[in-house]
Amino acid sequence: MRAISTLIAIAAFTLSLSAQAYDADWKRGRVYYRSVCTSCHVALPIGSINPSSKAKAEWAAYIQADKHAKGKDTVKQYVSKTYRASIKSANKAAEKFADTPDQELLDDIKAFLLKGAKDGDAPASCS
Ligand code: HEC
Repeated sequence: MRAISTLIAIAAFTLSLSAQAYDADWKRGRVYYRSVCTSCHVALPIGSINPSSKAKAEWAAYIQADKHAKGKDTVKQYVSKTYRASIKSANKAAEKFADTPDQELLDDIKAFLLKGAKDGDAPASCS
């Protein structure tokens, strides 16, 4: 019994570590944001959406709320593997990150948006 509970404790600990261990890669987020998110926005009346158009807290709340295009769809949908698979023949970033877990890519994009926010470390435009 004791060995089993020790094993369970170790497994739980390892899981909690791996859940936190991902260190967001803002550079990958930047590539994806510019290649996938921006390439759609520029083709629309809204045009490019600069990370520096919002403050860090606004971006964090935006990602958290997950309501894209005024709630018509979600941000997650455009980060998902399914979406990447659907555009990868025409989009190099989607092809390159075809197998990246959704949550990692979302964390990367969030890291880029926070870094590039108007009060971030390096306020950024889209291009
Ligand atoms: C297939 C096209 C498309 C893709 C891909 C896309 N968007 Fe959008 N985005 C839109 C449209 C349409 C709007 C709403 C434009 C309007 O309000 O006139 C929008 C609006 C936005 C806005 C303004 C606020 C809002 O939600 O109305 C933000 C921020 C945004 N998108 C972020 C993203 C991010 C981050 C990604 C990539 C993970 C992304 N978008 C990918 C089409 C796209």
